[in-house]
Amino acid sequence: MADGKDKGPVIAVDGPAASGKGTIARAVASHFGLPHMDTGLLYRAVALNLWRWGGDPASEFEALRACDELGFDPDDPELRSEPVSRIASTISAYPSVRAALLQRQQDFARQAGGAVLDGRDIGTVVAPDADVKLFVTASREVRAERRLKELTGRRMTAHYEDVLADLTARDDRDSHRAVAPLRPAPDAILLDTSSLDQEDAISQAVRFIEERIQLARAK
Ligand code: CDP
Repeated sequence: MADGKDKGPVIAVDGPAASGKGTIARAVASHFGLPHMDTGLLYRAVALNLWRWGGDPASEFEALRACDELGFDPDDPELRSEPVSRIASTISAYPSVRAALLQRQQDFARQAGGAVLDGRDIGTVVAPDADVKLFVTASREVRAERRLKELTGRRMTAHYEDVLADLTARDDRDSHRAVAPLRPAPDAILLDTSSLDQEDAISQAVRFIEERIQLARAK
């Protein structure tokens, strides 16, 4: 494995918004008995801090201050609200914000038993030595449908056209930022979930991971 044969595997799951990466990462973590970190929540927590203080997302300095004492409740529904999603996408482009959150993610990835992390830059920046890297995608329209379902399931009002426009804007910002842009690592396995239901996407991911781990052990 990444740091010696007796360590647990590090599994990186990256991909754009609403691609299914979070669901896949959680299921994979539970299948392999590994701890899981949703790194998007860190960026969302910074965004929520900033929003609550009335800070300006256009200011890198204020966004960096919002990284201080980053305690948050992962079940807080505001973390997943649209304004917070938009601010998270803006502040995640700031190099100082990314640097402030990096250590926490790397410490999680380095724990002895192995770990699963999902995000945008796990396989490229946070854990470039990960044992398995998955890059989960789906068409923009499918992702917009999924996000709409998720939001209405949480009793939030949302319209397909707005969700699609928002995803498009976030994809664009995440893919074109100068630091840690969203892109598959060269050694990532691509998993397109556009025409897969949740169960099939999870079983394909588990199969890919088992194959990679077996290959690594055989070396
Ligand atoms: O759930 P969804 O894919 O919509 O977003 P998320 O994974 O919770 O991430 C929220 C925002 O944080 C994204 O739009 C990214 O801009 C940013 N992010 C990042 O830059 N790097 C990560 N490793 C994770 C999230």
